[in-house]
Amino acid sequence: MKKKLYFGSNLKMYKNINETITYLKQLQNATLDLNRLEYTIFIIPSFTSLHQASKDINQDLIWLGAQNMCWAEQGQFTGEISPLMLQELGLKIVELGHSERRHVFGEDNQILQKKVTASLEHGFTTLLCVGENEQEKEFDISNEILRIQLKTGLSDIKEEQLPKLWIAYEPVWAIGVNGKPATAEYAQKKHSEIRTVLEEMFGAKGKEIPILYGGSVNLQNAEVLITQPDIDGLFVGRSAWNAEEFNHLIRNAINSYQKSCT
Ligand code: PGA
Repeated sequence: MKKKLYFGSNLKMYKNINETITYLKQLQNATLDLNRLEYTIFIIPSFTSLHQASKDINQDLIWLGAQNMCWAEQGQFTGEISPLMLQELGLKIVELGHSERRHVFGEDNQILQKKVTASLEHGFTTLLCVGENEQEKEFDISNEILRIQLKTGLSDIKEEQLPKLWIAYEPVWAIGVNGKPATAEYAQKKHSEIRTVLEEMFGAKGKEIPILYGGSVNLQNAEVLITQPDIDGLFVGRSAWNAEEFNHLIRNAINSYQKSCT
């Protein structure tokens, strides 16, 4: 059976409001013909761009998301963004646990568990990022790390919330300018491990949770990554931040996947 494919990008702390809107409109226009029943395209821009983006962009075409969220609805949480504030914008996605949130801002699995629970309770498609760092890979404990991140982060989920859960596997050593992309073979092995944990936790429903790969995805490796049996989508950083380039990457990946199905 053909899988549904997911293509998205987190814009991190790049692009001002105007640049974000221009980018989103270009991407929306360039991908108009792609059937959204087969492909989901999503962009996660800065908080400051979200208000304008939610007015200017058709979320049936480009799903919009937030890069982070507080677990509480309101209170003494200076500098945080509440789920109610994100609901006001009509966003579809909340991304949680990106490597930079975990490693630069010290978010641990317990904090992420509270955030994942809150995000799903507020009806957001929730994209939990997981992945081992370089040292954990060297110690050969990547599978254990993934297991801990998943079993802790997803421990409070109700069965009816599962259709709104997405996972991104982003090995820390693969992310960013100094990152080295995982080989398709390595990524597939880890996706398969993630799939096993999800099935342990949620039974057959665990099979349906989309698992996206992220970490130095580019025009070349996108084609082989997307054909791996347990890779449902690509979560792209730098190679997505130009709309034309991202459109090109998406189309290459789709072509390659379609070829692999024939
Ligand atoms: P990158 O970023 O593609 O630039 O490595 C990936 C990510 O941080 O999600």
